[in-house]
Amino acid sequence: MNTLPPLRIWSLALLVVSLVLGACSPDKLTRQEVYDPASCEECHPTHVEQWGMSMHAYAGDDPVFLAMNRRGQEETNGELGSFCINCHAPLAVQLGEVEDGLELEEDDFPQYFKGVTCAFCHLAAHSEGDSNNPIEIDDRLVIKGPFDDPFQDPAHRAEYSPFMDRNQRESTEICGPCHDIVLDNGVHLEQTYLEWQNTVFADDLTLTTCGNCHMPASSEPGPIADVEGVPARLLHDHSMPGVDVAITPWAGREEYRQMVQAELEDTVRSEICVDSEPPGWRVTVGLENIKAGHSFPSGSSQDRRIWAQIQAFDGDELLWESGVVPEGTPASELLGPDTGIILRDYLKGADGEEVHMFWDVAEPPERDVLNGIRVFGAEEIRVWDFVGPAFTEPDRVSLRLFERPIGLDVLDDLIESGHLDPAFRAEMPTFELVDAALEWTGPVLGTCVQTDSTPGP
Ligand code: HEC
Ligand code: HEC
Ligand code: HEC
Ligand code: HEC
Ligand code: HEC
Repeated sequence: MNTLPPLRIWSLALLVVSLVLGACSPDKLTRQEVYDPASCEECHPTHVEQWGMSMHAYAGDDPVFLAMNRRGQEETNGELGSFCINCHAPLAVQLGEVEDGLELEEDDFPQYFKGVTCAFCHLAAHSEGDSNNPIEIDDRLVIKGPFDDPFQDPAHRAEYSPFMDRNQRESTEICGPCHDIVLDNGVHLEQTYLEWQNTVFADDLTLTTCGNCHMPASSEPGPIADVEGVPARLLHDHSMPGVDVAITPWAGREEYRQMVQAELEDTVRSEICVDSEPPGWRVTVGLENIKAGHSFPSGSSQDRRIWAQIQAFDGDELLWESGVVPEGTPASELLGPDTGIILRDYLKGADGEEVHMFWDVAEPPERDVLNGIRVFGAEEIRVWDFVGPAFTEPDRVSLRLFERPIGLDVLDDLIESGHLDPAFRAEMPTFELVDAALEWTGPVLGTCVQTDSTPGP
C-alpha cells in the first residue's frame, strides 16, 4: 500500500498540536488507519460488524454495480468517468485514487477504498447541494460524531457535528445528497431526498430524519467504545437494511436478509373490496405506504419490482388471477402500467423505448410508486380496479405483495451484454410483504377487508 504524501506533514503537525496540548500522541491512528474501517474494530466492534453487513460496505463490491459501471464506461467511451463511484467509493474519488471505478475490480485494490466507509461519513465537513454527493471530507482527520463531550481518547480526535446528530435537520444533508441522482441532461433519476422533503417527516413539528428511522438506538445505554472508563451512551445501528442485499458471499449475509425482510414486511397497508359489476364482479385493491419516509419503492425504483398477486376462487375453482409470477420469471414480463399491479419507475431512452441504463435515459422517469405520507393524518391510498369474468361469483379473493430488489429483466440485460455472470440471477431473492397479505371471504358482495395497521410517523 503506498503512503500518501501529506502523511508526513500531517503527523508532524499532529505532534506539534499534541505537544502543545500536553497529550502524548504515539497511539494516534495514522492517516491511512483513519481511512480503514478495520482499524476501528478494536474499539468499535459493534459498529464495524453492523456496517460490515450493510449496503454501504457492499456498494463498491456489488457485482451488479461493477457490471453496470463497466458497461457504462464502455458505452460512453469513458465519459461516465467517476460519476458512479463518486457515491459507491467516495473516499477513493476524493483522495484521487480512482478515475472510473474499473480499478475496483483489480485484485490488489485496497478494500478500504470501496463502499461508503466510516471515514467518509465521519469526516464529512461540508455538504452543499441536494444531489450527486457534494460532500467534502475534513483533511484534518477530526472524527465527527454526535457527542460534544467525547471521552479523552488517544486513538483519534473527535468533535460534535450536526451532520452526525439525527435530531438535527442538518443530519439529512449527509444522507440525502447521496440518495438523490440528477443526470447530466437534467433528468432527476433517483430522488429519495426530494421525496422525503415533500413528506410530513420533513416538517419542523414532526421532523423525522433519515437517521431517526434508519439508525435506531440501542435499547439500553452502554459503552460505544471498548475502552476503560467510557460513559454509557446509546449506540445507533449502522446496518441500515433497506431492500438491496448481497448476492455474493458477504459477512452476515443471511442475517441481513432477515433484517431486510423485517424492514419491508409492514411497510404497506392494504385493502380489498369485492362488489358486483354486472354481468360480472369487480375487485378493488388499495395500497398505502405507512412506514417509509419517502416513496415506496424509492431511490433505485427503476430496478425495484414490487408486485401484487391477486387470486379469486369459487370454492376450489380458480376464477381469475393476476400477478402470479413463476420463480425465475421477470415480474415485468407479466405486469406493466396497464396490467395488474407493479410498483416501480420506468426509464425511457431517446426513442421512447424502455431502457435500464442511466446513460441511455433521455426523459424524466415515469413513476408508478406509493408516495410517502404528505399530510399528517391524511391517507395516501392508491386504488386499482379489476373486473372478473361474467356469470361467476367468487367466495374468496386473496392478495399477496412481493418485492425483488433488482428486476430479473435488469440482470438479464447485463447478462446478455456479457457484463454480468449469469450465476448471479439465481441469487436474487424475492421478499414477501407478509403484513400486507389479505383474504376476502365475503360472504356477500359489496364488502371490504383491510389490514389493521395504522399509518403515522
Ligand atoms: C483505541 C480505541 C479507538 C479506536 C481504534 C477508534 N476509536 Fe473512535 N472512539 C474511541 C473512544 C474512547 C471514543 C469516545 C467514546 C465516548 O465518548 O463515549 C470514540 C468516539 C468515536 C466517535 C464519536 C465521537 C463524537 O464526538 O461523537 C466516532 C464517530 C468514532 N469514535 C469513530 C471511529 C472511527 C471511524 C474509527 C476508525 C477509523 C475509530 N473511531 C477508532 C476509541 C477508539
Ligand atoms: C457517499 C454517499 C452516501 C452517503 C453519504 C449515504 N449513503 Fe446510503 N447508500 C449509498 C449507496 C451507494 C448505497 C447502495 C449500495 C448498494 O445497494 O449497492 C446506499 C444504501 C443505503 C441504504 C440501503 C438501501 C437498500 O436498498 O438496501 C440505506 C437505508 C441508506 N443507504 C441510508 C442512508 C442514510 C440514513 C445515510 C445518512 C446517515 C446514508 N445512507 C448516507 C450512498 C450513500
Ligand atoms: C419515517 C421513517 C423513514 C424516514 C424518515 C426515512 N426512511 Fe428510508 N426507509 C424507511 C423504510 C420503512 C424503508 C423500507 C421500505 C422501502 O423500501 O421504502 C426505507 C427504505 C429506504 C431505502 C431503500 C429504498 C428502496 O426502495 O430501494 C433508502 C435508500 C432509504 N430508505 C433512504 C432514506 C434517506 C436517505 C432518508 C432521508 C432523506 C430516509 N430514508 C428517510 C423509512 C424511513
Ligand atoms: C452512512 C454514514 C455512516 C457510516 C458509513 C458510518 N457511520 Fe457511524 N454514525 C453515523 C451517524 C449519522 C451517527 C450518529 C447517530 C446519531 O447519534 O444520531 C454515527 C454514530 C457513530 C458513533 C457514535 C455512537 C453511536 O452509535 O451513535 C460511532 C462510534 C460510530 N458512528 C462509528 C462508526 C464506525 C466505526 C463506522 C465504520 C465501521 C461507521 N461509524 C460508519 C453515520 C455513519
Ligand atoms: C448520487 C449518488 C449515486 C450515484 C451518482 C450513483 N449511485 Fe448507484 N446507488 C446510490 C444509492 C444511494 C443506491 C441505493 C439506492 C436505493 O436503495 O434506493 C444505489 C444503488 C445502486 C445499485 C444497487 C441497487 C440497484 O437497484 O441496482 C446499483 C447496481 C447502482 N447503484 C449502480 C450505479 C451506477 C452504474 C451508477 C452510475 C451510472 C450509479 N449507481 C451512480 C447512489 C448513487
